[in-house]
This record gives sequence, structure tokens and C-alpha cells, in this order.
Amino acid sequence: MTEDRVGWFTEARFGLFVHWGLYSLAARHEWVKQREKLSDADYQRYFDHFRADRFDARKWARDAKAAGMRYAVLTTKHHDGFCLWDSALTDYKSTNTPAGRDVVAEFVEAFRAEGLRIGLYHSLLDWHHPDFTIDGWHPQWDDRADLGELNAGRDMDRYLAYLHCQVRELVTAYQPDLLWFDFSYDDDHRVTVGKGAADWRADKLVGLVRELSPHTLINDRLGLSGSEDFATAEEASPDTAMGAVPWEACRTLNGSWGYAPGFQQWLDAGQVVRILVDSVSKGGNLLLNVGPDGRGAFEPQARELLAEVGAWTELHGDAIHGAGAAPEFTAPRDTRLTRSGNRLFVHVFGWQAGTLVLAGLAERVRYASFLHDGAEVECSVVDEEGNLPHLQNAGPPGSLVVHLPTRRPDVLLPVIELILT
Ligand code: GLC
Repeated sequence: MTEDRVGWFTEARFGLFVHWGLYSLAARHEWVKQREKLSDADYQRYFDHFRADRFDARKWARDAKAAGMRYAVLTTKHHDGFCLWDSALTDYKSTNTPAGRDVVAEFVEAFRAEGLRIGLYHSLLDWHHPDFTIDGWHPQWDDRADLGELNAGRDMDRYLAYLHCQVRELVTAYQPDLLWFDFSYDDDHRVTVGKGAADWRADKLVGLVRELSPHTLINDRLGLSGSEDFATAEEASPDTAMGAVPWEACRTLNGSWGYAPGFQQWLDAGQVVRILVDSVSKGGNLLLNVGPDGRGAFEPQARELLAEVGAWTELHGDAIHGAGAAPEFTAPRDTRLTRSGNRLFVHVFGWQAGTLVLAGLAERVRYASFLHDGAEVECSVVDEEGNLPHLQNAGPPGSLVVHLPTRRPDVLLPVIELILT
């Protein structure tokens, strides 16, 4: 891994995850086949009715760009095995549904046209392929009287040839900026029989990608430690910066990756902005998911949320894109710090304190203003006794004290920019 290859990724900071597939028609989570133990025959009805008549990749791309996102990752195939591109290796693909469209091709073209980088999510699991052996996460796991019998005739070597050849197809056709493999579960305490790096022949897969497209970044879910360009964190962020490895938090908007109107635990735009800032302040990215509906559209609530987030990133992008952690400074309580060169950004999560005390910064700050409108912000310096004119015990001597105006600015998250000497 070299800095150059991964540079665009850590600059970008904010991306769109798109989970779309047959499960979007079931509209109750992308694991519906497994959760409800559906057979291939049960699941066929979604294939037969996949029309994609409201799918417009240019609209998705415009929404993502307006939100301030710089890259997007689409599911080429999820665990259900349905392929969203015109793979020569299977009939189980979007071009054979009533939609008759190559979703991946349209996605790649539209997002690149908007200047976004593209990533391809690819499931290592496959609950449709006849050679993928039944394991603890497979929808048919509960049917087993005898696992040997159930897996008789299933040949993982043939499945692996399929998996590797499909990855070859995708990488050759699109030279993606990143590949997002999902996932390894040989050490998952919830399943007795899992699969991991050896089952995927992950070393060969990585070698293949590196050879065909050296610039393509690979995530950490092949289970092959040392092969990853970036780490992933799901529905959570680490407590502190994760050292030198670039990382990305991926989050759902409402608890489901695939379209699921029954899941109503929506984040609001303010939470999304705080999650984004929190990630960047720890040196990470945020990959925010939208699950388009069964016809291919982003639902209104998701679009509104992206637009609101975009109104914030439009004014505050400098504190996100190309910015990172500022470990040399201590963030005042209820704030996060991000830094870009000599610009230090204080993201003020709470407004109640009245002042923000930045230890050791009195000598280092030349100018302070709000990032959204450039309005100067009043600052003072704690004296040798630790006091301010109207406040005793204000903080350690030599601290910079930022005075917050009484009225909190009307933005999702106010940011104060400090210019460092
Ligand atoms: C999990 C789930 C999956 C989802 C992914 C996103 O591994 O299996 O449904 O696509 O996480 O991070």
C-alpha cells in the first residue's frame, strides 16, 4: 500500500453506499432470503418482477454529489447471488429480468460523469449458486439432517472459479477505484460452520486484483490480514483514531441496508453530520448507505436527508474533504477537531458552555471565524493565574478561549475555523 494509491480515499472522506437488488422488492431487509428461509423458488418472484423502471443512475449520482459525497460503492452481487451486471458466467442477472438493464454499467458511467470515484461491493457468499456449500449463514442451514448429505454434489472449487472469474470480469471492465468484499465469518461465534480467507482463496483473489488493476483499493473483509488498503467499521465508529490504517465507517440510514420501509429508525441530518465529523476527527471516512426502492428510486426521506446534509457540506466542506485528525491538540468537551494544513476546525456539538478552552493554543492562533459565513469570533487568552477578566478558573494559563455568541448559528453543526501560525 502506498500513500498515492490511497490518497484520493482519505481526501474524499464521504461516500455513498448503495444496496440494491432483488431484496429491494421484498422490502424487508437484504437478508430476507436467509431470515425467512426462502427457497430459490420462493425468491424467484422478485427476479420475475425486477423492472427497475424508476432507476436513473444520473439522479443517484447528482444526489450523492449534492450531499458532498466524493465516491460511491454499489452492490454488484449481494449474498442472494443476484448479479447487477451482464456477467457472462450466469443467467441470474439483471439483464435477464424484465428490466433488461446492466445496472453496474449505468452506475459506473453516471457516477464517473459527475466526477465521483466508484467502488464495487461484491459478496463472497452466494445463496443461489449450486456449488456454494451450505454453512451456518445459509438460508438452508436449518434443513440439514446431515450436512454431508445436503452438501453432496456441491463443489466449492467450482464456486471459487465462478467467484474469481466474476471479480476478473468486473475489474477488467471497470477498473474500479475500490473493491468492497463482504464478508468472512470463520470466526463468527454465531455460526458453527463459517467461511474465511482460505475458503475464498483470498490470497489468489487479491493477487488477481493487484495484477489486473494495481490502483484498486481493497477492504478488509476477505479475512486476510495485511491484504487490506483500508479497514471497515459497521454501524459504529472506533473510539479513537485507528493508527495508520485508513478506515471507513459504514452506516445505514434506518437500520437496513436494503430498502425496508418497515424500518423506521431514521437518523436525522444532524446526526449524519456529527457521525461524518466524528469519523474525520479520528482519521476515518463515512460511507452512508441508501437502499433504493423496488423500482430503483431513492425514497423521499433519503433524498431530503442527503439534501440537508449537502447544505451543510457545501459550507463546511473544507473541514471534511482533505481534512483529518488533529492529534496534537486536545478537543474541548463536546467538540471534535479536524485539521487541514494550518486550518484547525472546531466542530461544536454542544453550545451550552459559552466558551471553548483550547489548551496551549493562545500563541498559535492568528484568527478565528465561523466557517459557514466567515464571521469573526471573539477570543481571549487565559492569564498566568488561570483567569479571564470575568471568569476565574477559566483554564490552564496560555489557553485560547473562544467566546461563543449567545445565539447558535442556524446550521446543522457550527464550525469555528482557527488559522494557525
Ligand atoms: C454485512 C451484511 C450485509 C451488508 C454489509 C454492509 O456484512 O451481511 O447485508 O451488506 O454488512 O456493511
